[in-house]
Amino acid sequence: MAPDLREFVRDVPDFPKPGILFRDLTPLMRDPDGWQEVIRQLSAVCERLQPDLIVGIESRGFIVGTALATAVRLGFVPVRKPGKLPGEVTGVDYALEYGSDRLEIHSDALADGSKVLIIDDLLATGGTAAACAELVAAAGGELCGFGFVAELAALEGRRKLPEDQPVESLIIYS
Ligand code: PRP
Ligand code: ADE
Repeated sequence: MAPDLREFVRDVPDFPKPGILFRDLTPLMRDPDGWQEVIRQLSAVCERLQPDLIVGIESRGFIVGTALATAVRLGFVPVRKPGKLPGEVTGVDYALEYGSDRLEIHSDALADGSKVLIIDDLLATGGTAAACAELVAAAGGELCGFGFVAELAALEGRRKLPEDQPVESLIIYS
């Protein structure tokens, strides 16, 4: 039987700030069967949406995105925090559940109009994923959907994402 992904998630109250219930996915990453199941389910999403490339968001999105890209034999494009990418970048500012930040992508990374699936570990307020969708468009890519390991539905992050795009979350916390 496939493992129940939820059982591997550790809830940490008041991290990184008072009032935040942190959904820690590291025990899930540590478990080979649990992690294999994550990649299996996200590979099925790729099978359905047929992206040309995986775009992963720094830093936890790199862990999920690179594992998935390797499994489905697609290339990986990093979306990074500011000042990390060496080439010409396109950037966008965004708000977080606990702060604010900026994301950047290499301006030429999607210039060929590649169809991309955006991957991150978790959807909270949706600010990060929405900013990433903006970046993909600004860099000339075509979005075909979003994939998350976990989603905090109460924060209504989906409402920030483009309405016409599929959003696939493996674990949904209501
Ligand atoms: C976390 C998480 C998502 C984002 C979700 O990243 O990995 O990228 O927050 O929040 P949102 O939906 O409210 O935007 P974080 O910025 O904490 O960085 P990290 O991956 O480097 O830990
Ligand atoms: N990223 C943003 N909010 C989070 C939360 N509550 N748990 C884990 N990662 C997060």
